[in-house]
Amino acid sequence: MAQQPSDQAAPKAADPPAPSSLPHPDATTPIPPQIITLTKSHLRRAHPSDAPAMAREANSPAVAKYMTLRWASPYTLNDAHRWIAYATAFRVPTTTNTTTTPDGNTTTTVEVVPSMQICDPATNTCLGSIGIKTKDDIEARCFEVAYWLGEGSWGRGIMTEVLPAYVGWLFETFPDVIRLQASVFEGNDASVRLLKTAGFVHEGTKRKAGVKGGWVFDILVFGLLREEWSLS
Ligand SMILES: CC(C)(COP(=O)(O)OP(=O)(O)OC[C@H]1O[C@@H](n2cnc3c(N)ncnc32)[C@H](O)[C@@H]1OP(=O)(O)O)[C@@H](O)C(=O)NCCC(=O)NCCS
Repeated sequence: MAQQPSDQAAPKAADPPAPSSLPHPDATTPIPPQIITLTKSHLRRAHPSDAPAMAREANSPAVAKYMTLRWASPYTLNDAHRWIAYATAFRVPTTTNTTTTPDGNTTTTVEVVPSMQICDPATNTCLGSIGIKTKDDIEARCFEVAYWLGEGSWGRGIMTEVLPAYVGWLFETFPDVIRLQASVFEGNDASVRLLKTAGFVHEGTKRKAGVKGGWVFDILVFGLLREEWSLS
């Protein structure tokens, strides 16, 4: 599943944009508090101290199997540091805080870090992450969602709880976004199940669209519209 950071993997040297080329807010730009507390995990922004846990969780062929070529495998400590630097620098503007003043409405543009670490609620240790890839041109009001968890955390319903919470946070934080989408490799049944449970609709299959290490596979496209989310 792609993400910007695509597949939660740090871009390679040739993959634009590099962290240094991303827009950095000036020191006074307010960044909203960002923590989502759930029962099986909590979501928070990445921190450099997450790197060892992240490398430990991400360094698995089973995790890598359904990720794009951007995902490093093996996944090293350096890959984790590169991704954390990228994810914390990747900020998406949104307009919030509309207030009515005697002169009319005032809006404030803030830049939000959309990528979040999925953490063990007891230890605050990183178990995986979730984030988005922004799109442009005619798709500027769509985000692509991507996520992963370390293998030791699979099958405990963690992502079933995380995905709807994150989706809700995205729609609330980015009022201009009208559609979320996700792309899933053929055979990734857990991810398909997860997306359907969260209300995403299987909109179609791009036949033989993916090639990875000699494996040619279909890519399933899922979408969730704002109005579908607000009805759920
Ligand atoms: C996909 C992934 C995020 C799912 O996270 P998770 O926390 O293990 O998922 P959950 O435990 O919440 O289970 C989600 C659903 O998948 C089902 N499921 C879990 N493992 C499954 C498997 N191997 N085959 C089929 N269904 C499976 C669960 O039963 C559940 O369905 P249900 O609600 O009907 O019972 C996790 O497996 C993962 O990180 N995989 C590697 C990276 C990846 O594939 N990322 C997504 C790319 S599109």
